[in-house]
Amino acid sequence: MSVFAKKPLDRIMREAEGTGEHTTLNRTLSATALVSLGIGAIIGAGIFTLTGQAAANHAGPAILYSFILAAIGCALAGFCYSEFSTMIPIAGSAYTYSYATMGELVAWIIGWDLVLEYAVGAATVSIGWSSTLVSILHSVGVELPPQLIASPFQPVMLPSGQLVHGIINLPAVLIVAAMTWLLVKGIQESATVNNVVVLLKVVVVVLFIVVGWGFINPSNYEPFIPANEGPGRFGWDGVVRGAGLIFFAYIGFDAVSTAAQEAKNPKRDMPIGIIGSLAVCTVLYILYSRVLTGVVNYKELGVPAPLALAVDRIPYPWLGLAMKIASLAGLTSVILVMLLGQSRVFFSMSRDGLLPAVFSKLHSNYRTPYLSNVIMALFVGLFSAFAPVSVVGEMTSIGTLFAFVLVSIGIIIMRRTQPDLPRPFKTPLVPLVPVLSVAVNAFMMFGLGWENWLRLLVWLAIGMAIYFGYSKAHSKVQAGA
Ligand code: ALA
Repeated sequence: MSVFAKKPLDRIMREAEGTGEHTTLNRTLSATALVSLGIGAIIGAGIFTLTGQAAANHAGPAILYSFILAAIGCALAGFCYSEFSTMIPIAGSAYTYSYATMGELVAWIIGWDLVLEYAVGAATVSIGWSSTLVSILHSVGVELPPQLIASPFQPVMLPSGQLVHGIINLPAVLIVAAMTWLLVKGIQESATVNNVVVLLKVVVVVLFIVVGWGFINPSNYEPFIPANEGPGRFGWDGVVRGAGLIFFAYIGFDAVSTAAQEAKNPKRDMPIGIIGSLAVCTVLYILYSRVLTGVVNYKELGVPAPLALAVDRIPYPWLGLAMKIASLAGLTSVILVMLLGQSRVFFSMSRDGLLPAVFSKLHSNYRTPYLSNVIMALFVGLFSAFAPVSVVGEMTSIGTLFAFVLVSIGIIIMRRTQPDLPRPFKTPLVPLVPVLSVAVNAFMMFGLGWENWLRLLVWLAIGMAIYFGYSKAHSKVQAGA
């Protein structure tokens, strides 16, 4: 069979019934609940950690423009995700959608690429988690050994004042291990916990904006767009590069699309959930970056925990500590959601025969894909321990942008090949919106520079080797099973 063989929709539905993916048919989620779900998955290391890196190294105070550019790309892709999620009425991912609609090879590429979004993304957030923890402990007078809280690429200061490189980022590894343990035990985040964490995160960001506004030093905005110093370093080139990096801060709204089947009124509420959570975050992010670069000069923001640096400049120590603790809780839930997303995608790929059975083997008591969780934890842990945060952040961004581009192209293909399939929600102005989505998101990929293209190409080449070396021969759809 061809590598474009499609997985029949009725089979996807049947399997979803059997694996419990399809269990929550209760349509209980209102539009507000969907917006809250989105915000829970969105606000995390992007805003708490990467914004500082992006301002310091790429955009300066004009990071605000980077946030606007990234929001436009996400909103356009968000419409396309909305159409897919209501068209294939199960709790699926971009992988499931594309297997049914664009065939096996595209599905494989998206599934393989989603590892960058979920697994490498989880590593990025774990590094942000680690710096936030270090900063909290520092506030209460506890210092961890500097070389055990940083990757070998990150300089750290010893108590003697000597500058050395880190050895391993141990807290980042430990939080990945802890979240994996929760996943293996099958603990799911309840809606209540999610709502509390979302509230905490939004309160942290709003408090920072409101209180920090009074401590803005206008001279920090001069120059607003620093002069270009080379590819991706300041000027408009830097704004685009910054957008590629802080695009990470918006990742997670696609989590809303996986809840299509639980939405009370998907036709109306899916776009509200996706675009609404994006809109709330866009407004918060723009104001937040304005205050961050106003309180601290952008040149100083290239630290692992820029929010902590900024709140330390605001003379309310209790407020700073409360904000750091709340952001730690917020980061924890994002790591959990990302690891869960990763395990779901690999579970489906393994069930389809594209990955070895070990990735879908269930634990006899907990009924969770425990081996898959543990293998992925080892992979994620390596990045958490040894990679610099901006590199893993950019890899996540380029991988996710690529998935957005493919999903947007998918909408155009589907309108041609399957015009009669019911579409409870339709992307407006097709093909204009998907074409613009491809253009804006590809532009941000382009802005991320050749190193990231190379990393993406190497990753996809490994994926191709696995597909043609293993997956195609073991695929159940290929075998007609
Ligand atoms: N958007 C999520 C974050 O910034 C992934 O942590």
